Amino acid sequence: MEFSKVISTRCSCRSYTEEPVSDAQLQAVLAAGNAAPVGMGAYQTVYLTVIRNRGFLDAVSKTAGAFLKRDTDPLYGAPVVILVSAKPGIPPTIEFQNTGTIIENMMLAATDLGLGSVYLMGAIAAMRNEPELVGQLNLPKGFVPIAAMALGHSAQPAVLRVPEQKIQTDYMD
Ligand SMILES: Cc1cc2nc3c(=O)[nH]c(=O)nc-3n(C[C@H](O)[C@H](O)[C@H](O)COP(=O)(O)O)c2cc1C
Repeated sequence: MEFSKVISTRCSCRSYTEEPVSDAQLQAVLAAGNAAPVGMGAYQTVYLTVIRNRGFLDAVSKTAGAFLKRDTDPLYGAPVVILVSAKPGIPPTIEFQNTGTIIENMMLAATDLGLGSVYLMGAIAAMRNEPELVGQLNLPKGFVPIAAMALGHSAQPAVLRVPEQKIQTDYMD
């Protein structure tokens, strides 16, 4: 897809079909994550976990639903969740910024492949409070789950959105 179309078509997908994501699609999305910029090139401070285990995803949904006080599934039934974990480091907040660039790259790749995606912050914040769930991830020492991306086939057709200015912008010439 042309890059400007990818940008205009990406949107948060909150409804997925049960169709699985193919390995080729998954690898393309992960490659985009690996191409993202990371502060000081410290790629060893970030870590991806591809979660397709339905039992684990259901447990995260249950925990997150209770934490966020929501009746609906905070993971939206997505068949794949790609979790970004990081080693909190110096300068402060760098782990959040790195996670953002990685997830955005992966979301754009997903859009290009005709897949749906959505950034997941709330559900992962809920999961962080559950040592039993975090323990099942087997993260390397010092890594903390930061945020994730849900990935799957959207239940809704893709729409090319008209670009609009949503962010207040000042010019200092
Ligand atoms: C840092 C960040 C955290 C977000 N967390 C969540 C989340 O936990 N759950 C969710 O459904 N959407 C989440 N979103 C998606 C935003 O709500 C969404 O991107 C925004 O409303 C704009 O809509 P769009 O993605 O369709 O353009 C998050 C987005 C960002 C960038």
